[in-house]
Amino acid sequence: MAYDLVVIGTGPGGYVCAIRAAQLGLKVAVVEKNPTLGGTCLNVGCMPSKALLHASELFEEAGHSFAKMGISVPAPKLDLPAMMTFKQQGIDGNVKGVEFLMKKNKIDVLAGKGKILGTGKVEVTGADGKAQTVETKSVVIATGSSVAQLKGIEIDEKRVVSSTGALSLDKVPGKLIVVGAGVIGLELGSVWRRLGAEVTVVEFLDRILPGMDGEICKQFQRILEKQGFAFKLGAKVTAVDSSGKQLKVSVEASAGGNPETLEADVVLVAIGRVPFTEGLGLKEAGVALDERGRVQIDDHFATTVKGVYAIGDVVRGPMLAHKAEDEGVAVAELIAGKAGHVNYDVIPGVVYTTPEVSSVGKTEEDLKQAGVAYSVGKFPFTANGRSKVNQTTDGFVKILADAKTDRVLGVHIIGREAGEMIHEAAVLMEFGGSAEDLARTCHAHPTRSEAVKEAALAVGKRAIHM
Ligand code: FAD
Ligand code: NAI
Repeated sequence: MAYDLVVIGTGPGGYVCAIRAAQLGLKVAVVEKNPTLGGTCLNVGCMPSKALLHASELFEEAGHSFAKMGISVPAPKLDLPAMMTFKQQGIDGNVKGVEFLMKKNKIDVLAGKGKILGTGKVEVTGADGKAQTVETKSVVIATGSSVAQLKGIEIDEKRVVSSTGALSLDKVPGKLIVVGAGVIGLELGSVWRRLGAEVTVVEFLDRILPGMDGEICKQFQRILEKQGFAFKLGAKVTAVDSSGKQLKVSVEASAGGNPETLEADVVLVAIGRVPFTEGLGLKEAGVALDERGRVQIDDHFATTVKGVYAIGDVVRGPMLAHKAEDEGVAVAELIAGKAGHVNYDVIPGVVYTTPEVSSVGKTEEDLKQAGVAYSVGKFPFTANGRSKVNQTTDGFVKILADAKTDRVLGVHIIGREAGEMIHEAAVLMEFGGSAEDLARTCHAHPTRSEAVKEAALAVGKRAIHM
């Protein structure tokens, strides 16, 4: 069979790329080694974690917030198997959706492991070991990432787990130790804390969520501590002894010294993810990797082999599903002879905890480091009417604008629904808008988004409700 494009991997990067290419009239196939389509995001990432975050948030609210609103219900009881079924139904629904989209767009799904045999040739080996070679004008590598391992600590996905195991625990751990205060650690730590676990997070650096705005993260840490999270910052886990009934976790200062042993029922290792290129035959085919093991690409997603491109977690840039999707669209358009492009300055990031944390563009630390003069506008949810009536006033909006031109350079939000609220900032920034543009845009009342408008007004020192 001969194709215009073969995409290896059906995560958000791969399947979206395939659909866009098919829309543009190319004959497309996808290759997937897993039994289901959708990659990390749909099967063991974004979607199952959001299902559990949603269910566990409601569980906690039913126990703590309903009464003060005059809703009297018996103390909620956890049915963990039912919650896991709810999660699985969500996964199945989305995976079926991708299968439908492949059929609708006449994209062939080739089940098996893809290997690049050089320009124009991909070998696909099925689970039964049978191999077939397909011819194609172009190949897109969209093989994603896998869990970064902690040296000397073996993940068994039962007691010492990665995010994959943490999404499927069969009981709530009494004590959960999370290694890494990144996005996975805080999201999945939140799930299990809400369901009853005592959670301690051990983080190598002296702050949580490195890369996000420091001021936002300080407040975030305080809120998480109020919720019951314990943090050991500037610390690392050096060993986990799993010989006894309880895990014995050796922790010491990042720079060494101050050793201590903590007990835990489960340890979640969440220290980042690494590009996944195993079995692709990249070396033999001449596809170069960079110093961090990512597939090396130019500004048009082209690898070092003609006709072979790469996108998503397996290449440079943030490991986010929407970044992978946008790259998938852009590379499909480039392959079809159009002008595909991704604006890496405007990629939102969201941490789906309670409250949520969202961000787009530069942080204050970025601007300081680059020596850019900036103005700051901030507005707390305590002064936002809708948040007050709902009694969800934690957090604030922060807007960073160029001191000379007023162009918005970064927006950071901590608060309920922050993940939905960030997008007006993203659109504004995509169009090169100013804080004044945002401040003069009528916002519906009463909404939490009015806090974004007020923060924009605050850049010009004229917030109304503060
Ligand atoms: P992947 O989704 O990893 O897909 C790669 C696919 O390629 C896989 O299906 C794999 O089986 C297949 N594959 C690999 N090698 C081969 C081969 N040789 N042959 C055939 N198939 C192959 N991002 C967000 O933006 N928002 C979130 O809320 C979010 N939550 C997350 C929660 C967790 C717990 C985790 C782990 C990640 C989360 N992410 C989130 C990150 C997100 O999942 C990734 O950024 C995204 O999945 C990357 O997409 P991708 O298409 O590059 O690769
Ligand atoms: P991460 O990179 O977000 O965080 C890892 C954390 O571990 C960092 O704070 C780092 O300093 C710390 N760390 C590293 N080595 C350590 C050590 N030895 N001991 C203690 N701490 C250590 O990685 P994470 O949370 O594993 O997530 C992986 C990727 O998945 C991220 O890149 C993220 O973008 C993506 N993701 C996105 C989500 C979202 O968008 N909501 C949700 C979950 C994951």
